[in-house]
Amino acid sequence: MIRALQADITTLKVDAIVNAANESLLGGGGVDGAIHRAAGPKLLAQCRTLGGCPTGEAKITPGYKLPAKWVIHTVGPVWHGGKSGEPTLLANCYRHSLELAFKHGVKTIAFPGISTGVYGYPKDQAAKIAVTVMREHEDRFDEIIACCFSEGDKKLYEELLK
Ligand code: AR6
Repeated sequence: MIRALQADITTLKVDAIVNAANESLLGGGGVDGAIHRAAGPKLLAQCRTLGGCPTGEAKITPGYKLPAKWVIHTVGPVWHGGKSGEPTLLANCYRHSLELAFKHGVKTIAFPGISTGVYGYPKDQAAKIAVTVMREHEDRFDEIIACCFSEGDKKLYEELLK
């Protein structure tokens, strides 16, 4: 089952939440900053051992002080107009995160709108890609949550999930 939820992703008691990180995996603003603040300093210490993460790939850590057991860190593409491979890279983020989650026995997982903040990916186009890849993996999970920060984002997902 896939559903849209309006929430702060750091509050969700799911098996895994996904972080919209950058290639350094050493933290930042937006959802990345919120996750690091809520998880506590052990998360950054663990991330330092991972050697970064290329765009479109994903790496996993414990959730430490978060209600979620795991954090899957993925790096979305920066939007450069859409002709620089952004759609494929964004789909890879969702695909690799879901594959990594499945390997770790995750049954419930929540995603933020990867790349749709600082990285500037148009929200409607990003949501279409997210839902397409989520549908391909739906059967392997009890619940895949599109965690939306705003009501407008939630409406966008609900429309696509109809
Ligand atoms: N819960 C759920 N969604 C959130 C939260 C939250 N607590 N906070 C923000 N969002 P962004 P990006 C939404 O900018 O575009 C960081 O500095 C937000 O409304 O966090 O992939 C990293 O270190 C937006 O829809 O991530 C990178 O350098 C979405 O999360 C860079 O930003 C993603 O916005 C990554 O940029």
